[in-house]
Amino acid sequence: MKLQLLTLAVLTATLAQAQQRQEIVLTDNWQFSRDQQSWEQVSVPHDWAISGPFDKKWDLQVVAITQNGETEATEKSGRSGALPWIGKGYYKRKFMIPSGFDGFAELVFDGAMAEPTVTVNGNRAGFWAYGYNTFRVDVTPVVRPGENLLEVALQNLEESSRWYPGAGIYRPVKLVLTGRSHLDRWGTFIRTTSIVNDKATLAVTAQAIGEGNAIEVELRDQKGHIVDAHHAGTDSEGRVEMNFEVAKPHLWTPESPYLYKAVVKLMKNGKTIDELTENIGIRTVEVSKAGGFQLNGVTRKIKGVCLHHDLGPLGAAVNKAALIRQIKTMKDMGCDAIRTAHNMPSQMQMDICDSLGMMVMAESFDMWVYAKCKNGYARFFRDWSDRDIENLVRANRNHPSVIMWSIGNEIPEQGMKGGRQMAEHLQALCHRLDPSRPVTQGMDRIDNALSTGFAQVMDVPGMNYRVHKYQMAYDKLPQGFLLGSETASTVSSRGIYKFPVKPDDNTRFSSWAKDYDPNAIKTADGQCSSYDVEYCSWSNLPDDDWRWQDDYPWVIGEFVWTGYDYLGEPTPYDEYWPARSSYFGICDLAGLPKDRFYLYRSRWNKDEHTIHLLPHWTWGNTKKDKGNRIGQTTPVYCYTDYPEGELFLNGKSQGRIKKNVAERLDRYRLRWNDVKYEPGELKVVVYDEMGKNCGEKTLKTAGKPVRLQLDAWTQTDKPELKADGEDLAFVTVSLADAEGTFVPAATDQLRFEVEGAGSFRAVCNGDATSLEPFTQPTMKLFSGQLVVVVQSACEKGTLTLRVIDDERKLTQELQLQVK
Ligand code: GAL
Repeated sequence: MKLQLLTLAVLTATLAQAQQRQEIVLTDNWQFSRDQQSWEQVSVPHDWAISGPFDKKWDLQVVAITQNGETEATEKSGRSGALPWIGKGYYKRKFMIPSGFDGFAELVFDGAMAEPTVTVNGNRAGFWAYGYNTFRVDVTPVVRPGENLLEVALQNLEESSRWYPGAGIYRPVKLVLTGRSHLDRWGTFIRTTSIVNDKATLAVTAQAIGEGNAIEVELRDQKGHIVDAHHAGTDSEGRVEMNFEVAKPHLWTPESPYLYKAVVKLMKNGKTIDELTENIGIRTVEVSKAGGFQLNGVTRKIKGVCLHHDLGPLGAAVNKAALIRQIKTMKDMGCDAIRTAHNMPSQMQMDICDSLGMMVMAESFDMWVYAKCKNGYARFFRDWSDRDIENLVRANRNHPSVIMWSIGNEIPEQGMKGGRQMAEHLQALCHRLDPSRPVTQGMDRIDNALSTGFAQVMDVPGMNYRVHKYQMAYDKLPQGFLLGSETASTVSSRGIYKFPVKPDDNTRFSSWAKDYDPNAIKTADGQCSSYDVEYCSWSNLPDDDWRWQDDYPWVIGEFVWTGYDYLGEPTPYDEYWPARSSYFGICDLAGLPKDRFYLYRSRWNKDEHTIHLLPHWTWGNTKKDKGNRIGQTTPVYCYTDYPEGELFLNGKSQGRIKKNVAERLDRYRLRWNDVKYEPGELKVVVYDEMGKNCGEKTLKTAGKPVRLQLDAWTQTDKPELKADGEDLAFVTVSLADAEGTFVPAATDQLRFEVEGAGSFRAVCNGDATSLEPFTQPTMKLFSGQLVVVVQSACEKGTLTLRVIDDERKLTQELQLQVK
């Protein structure tokens, strides 16, 4: 309240003078209810369903997933996460308008799940159908000086999603106050038109609403120096168009994400009456037959991952620290692009991609008119799709990270009459709103898409899977290149290894398949092997994708399904309970890297070497140990960028081998398939092309666990958090033996206590079959690890996290300084 009064006082003072722009994020003091009877206080971003409890009854879908080739409806228990996101939800909050305020007031929602109706002081002020999009509500006519009441009503229908969509106001809400005459932020558009001879040309559009009669734009570098500035009178529609020139520009790339600031000022009779700033990057994007995909004129193959929007145990509620952790981890793997599958990204995520250097394919829809699930977006497409594309493009087109728009994913219309026209329409709309970026979509039925002409009209033909059809598609496509818009769909569970090791497409779980085995799901364990040899009938292994990218210049890159596990879609265990999150991730739901992380890293990260050995080497110390593998064949894989390696088990060579281009799994991995397990020390020594010894990696058999180990990830890499009430630390907890060797199979039940300047936020162990809630301070280790998330308070001090293993009587503490 005090803070609100203070804000009010400041606002009154400033607005009285110049009616300066105020952009106020409405974070705290929201009231939330499921029934409008009992209310609880929450802060926004908020996801009402993430606390669970997990239950198969939520959104139990009895459906045939036709995209997966199914013809008969069966029970899919965890398809949308088995969390209580269905139904209605209500939010309300007071906000202050300064006395004497006579300007323009707008609410900007970055996304609310779903179908938000916005009411201010009892007047219906706005509605948006799609839960993933940003939208603006002009509330000028309904606000009044002093206290105002904002209410938001939401509803989520069952069978409206193929994955966990989250529930609630899961992205920020901003109140924007300006003078009556003001700049339209979404009307400001700054794009690089050319970079020639170390000189960049930029086109700038700015839009005034009301009475300003001139606009001034300054482009500032990171030191604050003005590198170019222009002033122009507005046309009859309040618009200006300008051309900027920047000599010796710092170009934006993922490797060097240099950001300039564009300061836009609206003038009236020589006085500034509104001002806004946009971060921009100088860079060009092109696709062509001759050059493939080019950033700043340089051809590069996209090393991308698809990401769903949920943040694992935080649900759909966006958080800056969590998003930074995601992007930094992907960058360490060498990844340079993300695809926001299959919906609009948050502004927070795009800001992070701009500043950390991550290219983005910003996607829009998973369906158009033809419904993929009964109550999905198809209900809205005809009335809303143009407005949805418009908001996506206008809100995001200044982000240098965004390199292409996607108008859809596996749209059934690709093979239907009229589908091509719809694609042309949506693509043209993107072009009209943004002539600077190509448009794509992910197609999974390429034969159909080619026969209807659907594939031929796209700027960038994107193919989902089916690498064996790449050549045929390339031969028929006029574009002269294609993108692996979705690749791999390899499945694995962190730390789980299955024997014997052999490629497995999991079709024994598919009722339509030749090798379907109705008992398979009944006897299954709900886990996939981390030898990275499991995939789905429609998909493949990373090795299969790379062969095409390496051998054919016209494959312009890939977006792997997926960078992280996500809630829902537990393929191949769609019919297995309990399974409630995906197995596709390169990292698990807790954000911990699976082995596959190192396989991609060995190929993608060109700055640092990778030497990773798998599996773990704790398969029993004596023949008496339960489940020991002593004497049994236990293949060993090494994921490394080096071409050659020699493996030693307790000093005995297991052979010196080279990668082999001719073999499916030996081209990118070093594999020793006949190793007989014995406890002790497993070591690989790697060699470069010249045969020079370049390093080694050792795994040891763990003894008895004697201590808990806590490793904290924070934004700064230091044991500290910002005292802003939002910053997070992700603390990886594992068990170690007396020598510090990690104990890989531990499943101990742990408890967590947090004291001081922060609180417990969530916990996750990456087990797709766990029904332990994310928001209770206890959980079992899965494959020896889990991640506890703690959150800073607004007050400075010390935050102490205590992890307790009651059974083994172990306790470990970690302290973070909250500054
Ligand atoms: C694709 C689809 C994704 C996901 C994936 C799983 O066909 O686009 O959303 O379902 O399959 O392999």
